[in-house]
Amino acid sequence: MAGGAIAASDGRDYPGKLTFKVFVTCVIAATGGLIFGYDLGISGGVTSMDSFLEKFFPAVYEKETSIRPSENQYCKFDSQTLTLFTSSLYIAALVASIFAATITRHFGRRTTMLWGGILFCVGALVNGFAERVWMLIVGRMFLGFGIGCANQSVPIYVSEMAPYRFRGALNMMFQLAITIGILVANLLNYFFAQIEGGWGWRLSLGGAMVPALIIIAGSFCLADTPNSLIERNHFKEAKEQLVKIRGIPNVDEEFNDLVSASEASKLVKHPWVTIFQRKYRPQLTMAICIPFFQQLTGMNVITFYAPVLFKTIGFGSSASLMSAVITGTVNSLATLVSIFSVDKFGRRTLFLQGGAQMFICQVIITIAIAFKFGTTGNPGELPKWYAYGVVFFICVYVAGFAWSWGPLGWLVPSEIFPLEIRSAAQSINVSVNMIFTFAIAQVFTSMLCHLKFGLFIFFACWVVIMSLFIHKFLPETKGVPIEEMTIVWRNHPYWRKFVSSDGDASGPGGDIQLEKDAVEQKV
Ligand code: BGC
Repeated sequence: MAGGAIAASDGRDYPGKLTFKVFVTCVIAATGGLIFGYDLGISGGVTSMDSFLEKFFPAVYEKETSIRPSENQYCKFDSQTLTLFTSSLYIAALVASIFAATITRHFGRRTTMLWGGILFCVGALVNGFAERVWMLIVGRMFLGFGIGCANQSVPIYVSEMAPYRFRGALNMMFQLAITIGILVANLLNYFFAQIEGGWGWRLSLGGAMVPALIIIAGSFCLADTPNSLIERNHFKEAKEQLVKIRGIPNVDEEFNDLVSASEASKLVKHPWVTIFQRKYRPQLTMAICIPFFQQLTGMNVITFYAPVLFKTIGFGSSASLMSAVITGTVNSLATLVSIFSVDKFGRRTLFLQGGAQMFICQVIITIAIAFKFGTTGNPGELPKWYAYGVVFFICVYVAGFAWSWGPLGWLVPSEIFPLEIRSAAQSINVSVNMIFTFAIAQVFTSMLCHLKFGLFIFFACWVVIMSLFIHKFLPETKGVPIEEMTIVWRNHPYWRKFVSSDGDASGPGGDIQLEKDAVEQKV
């Protein structure tokens, strides 16, 4: 098999190329990441706009503007209501992703995406016209419901559509869309903040409608995945679809395996219970640990609060927003590196390299901030070269994240779950991601206030732990067809004792193999 050493030993090599159709389909679907990214990027900038703070959070505004240079700078943004504005969305997304599992399983991935777009659109409208804090929070909850639906369905959709040899690169379009969303949001904040009259934040928040309309329009153009069609008994349509997306007339082998996996999955009536069975321990562990660790890299401290962070370390308001644009650009460009290398070097190499890079930068940033800002957060006169130096290492750190934990945090979970638990497991993945996105968003300003320059060391320790985890527990999944992933666990020195003896339902060689004749009769 062309794709990888593991599958080559006992896996299949499905024919089929990367067709134009599948490429365009995956790109359209991946734009679902735009809404998530736009939101991640917009709130930090908006909360650093004075007119916005003055209208909705006057206490924070007063504290920020009246603080004297001799007082502690690390604490000037410490407000739980302000962080609730940012974080409320992620709680809503968590709830939505649990419901989205059922929609995805019974109505297909596409319907879930469509709902994601609609809910997000409503949220953008409510926020754009907000007059009171409660309207902001309600609006953000709608946005959260939208994101929960999109993040639940898009990564699975792309992984199922993609030919397995290009799955990594195509799936990472989702992360690329996230980073583009963040960048566009940062740029718009920069320009809208300069609008006379201080109402630019309305455009920033209401602008979320644009990515929402893109995903709505996109989901009308998309067909559902063959896996999902088979799961809903549309065998004929599924086969036609597979022929179209693989660009070859004979897709029997892959089709039969998909049907086998689907038959096995139908024996599972309660995926939420099944996923706790011993044989799914590796997948469950990854569904929890990968998103947990992704958030503990500390990346979102930069994503949400780069302007606040830069303001804290002495940049002016517009310089802070501009620095966020710079980190946003690095984030997008570095994601491209990952897209072009993930199916070549594999997931593990990127995880470990990115981890090492982030760790080194976090240590340097800590020393640089500690040295100049001390415990008061007051650098006195900060030389320009020093500030640029800090921004430079923040950018190298962002690049490390952008070609490792950023995209892989979505790719790896979406490709390792067998069909029978795929929707439920993806919901766990999204929920854990959202809980910790929420937690970081909620506690960041008070962490900064209490840990001061030590903030980055806290995350650096986690980066060491997660790299060790990857090294010991994550098998390489590059080049393994998605419905054959069971092989990598069977071959893994630690996980093999969980999966080998009690029969795996989903892969060829498992206990439940549909008779090929029966399959053919259905078509
Ligand atoms: C993460 C987000 C993060 C973004 C940054 C995503 O993969 O899930 O939490 O803000 O990457 O690029």
